[in-house]
Amino acid sequence: MRDMQDTMSKLVPLFPAAELEEGHMRQAHLPDGHALAVYRVGDQYYATDDRCTHGEVSLTEEGTLDGCIVECSFHFGSFNVTTGEPVAMPCEVALKIYRVQVDNGVVHVEI
Ligand code: FES
Repeated sequence: MRDMQDTMSKLVPLFPAAELEEGHMRQAHLPDGHALAVYRVGDQYYATDDRCTHGEVSLTEEGTLDGCIVECSFHFGSFNVTTGEPVAMPCEVALKIYRVQVDNGVVHVEI
């Protein structure tokens, strides 16, 4: 059973959960260097690709988080971080989202 789960998905540890305060976001990287944005909204953690789907912009470096909405400062498009869906133009393509799990106080994403 475990082998089957391992072939389907893998949990990647990112950073201690306590390092991300409520209402904040931070960048993290997958083992291949792919950049993610990890958000804390209340007691929940969410993760998406860090790059805005409208341009070559890092949401964690250039964006702002307000509740569950991250706004890209380049053209003020925005996304719901819980679903990845765009909620303000000019963004039309959803962000890829990742399932997040906190194990032993460490934030993990499923890939
Ligand atoms: S690059 Fe993000 S809204 Fe245009």
